[in-house]
Amino acid sequence: MKVVNIVGARPQFVKYFPISAAIDRYNSNNTETIVDVLVHTGQHYDYAMSKVFFDELGIRMPEYHLGVGSGSHGAQTAAVISKTEEVLLAERPDAVIVYGDTNTTLGGALAAVKLHMPVVHVEAGLRSFNRSMPEEINRIVVDHTSAYLFCPCSGAVRQLKREGFNRVLGDGMLVDDAAVTALNREPAVVADHPLAANTGDVMYDVLLTASALAEGRSTILQTLGIEGTEYCLLTIHRAENTDDPARFKELASFINAATAGRTVIFPMHPRTRKCYAESGAPLGNHVKIVEPLGYFDLLMALRHSSMVLTDSGGMQKEAFWLSIPCVTLRDETEWVETVESGWNVLYQNYTGAHRTLDAGLVYGDGHAAEKIVAVIAAGFCPRSSAC
Ligand code: UD1
Repeated sequence: MKVVNIVGARPQFVKYFPISAAIDRYNSNNTETIVDVLVHTGQHYDYAMSKVFFDELGIRMPEYHLGVGSGSHGAQTAAVISKTEEVLLAERPDAVIVYGDTNTTLGGALAAVKLHMPVVHVEAGLRSFNRSMPEEINRIVVDHTSAYLFCPCSGAVRQLKREGFNRVLGDGMLVDDAAVTALNREPAVVADHPLAANTGDVMYDVLLTASALAEGRSTILQTLGIEGTEYCLLTIHRAENTDDPARFKELASFINAATAGRTVIFPMHPRTRKCYAESGAPLGNHVKIVEPLGYFDLLMALRHSSMVLTDSGGMQKEAFWLSIPCVTLRDETEWVETVESGWNVLYQNYTGAHRTLDAGLVYGDGHAAEKIVAVIAAGFCPRSSAC
């Protein structure tokens, strides 16, 4: 069978990495192989936002680079749709894999489903219940156009059930061999009978591999001169925080108070630069602004920090997995399990301390990508002449 993987924004390069490795492993253990075509939409294009991730993780260069670049939501999404459509018409894949909640995810899913190609959504079922977030609209639309919905946790499966998805592999338990074998005997996946499955989070797979590698490869602590000191790590990039200078100022005064007396390292996303200047650069002198970090540098800086303050979904979980207290700079989060465990607190609720509990493996067992590839192969290969 043939799959097209569509990536374009920073977190998607990270999420694709374990899927690509799992496809390689599947191909070396099976006679029927999966052909993997990689498409980079070009939504993120600066070296620090894109190529550094390919270099560090050893991801091969994409077969297609669409050069979509920046633009309004309409223009950016439209460009992803039309340019992806050309690739899909040329490649004629059996399935199209999209990741997360970006305009790349939305555009890729719409291009595929309109060509009657099954959409596979990795990181399905998450909701913030805040429809003013572009990511929330993208998630809802992509889930409701997908044939396969791979959820990072049981809460995401429950949400999909509430939205009417009633075909759930293994009743929402973490996918295992028995569930995949049972799937082999089921009828083919069809677009109007989508399948949801709890595979765990592919980002946990990556973290387990990459955090050990980061220790040997990253020199960021020395470069930033923060070796041995107690510091916080800060990131802000969500539109709801960066597109309104008044909101940014409110967050800045919270950050200044919550981190007083400590050094703060702030790798600044390109979208945040403009807003920061317009808001009058309200962060204190203890906040050190640096360029966006590569994946190994980011993990290293996170792992050695005393606290993380962020609006990134990925970093809330990375902090949780590495047992670093996190304050989320948003009014809500999709990753509610991190909050329930006490390791993550929404900033309005932060009182200066975290009360932490052992949450267990709520985001899978570190083999999410293998489960995803096994389910896709079971769903397509028995019926696909390409296998
Ligand atoms: C996007 C995703 C968000 C994800 C984030 C990860 C959408 C709607 N949002 O947000 O879900 O968490 O990526 O980073 O898809 N820019 C550069 N260089 C780059 C990339 C962007 O300068 O390499 C600038 C653009 O010109 C634009 C701004 O950053 O002004 C925002 O980029 P955009 O791709 O729209 O969304 P992100 O904020 O990165």
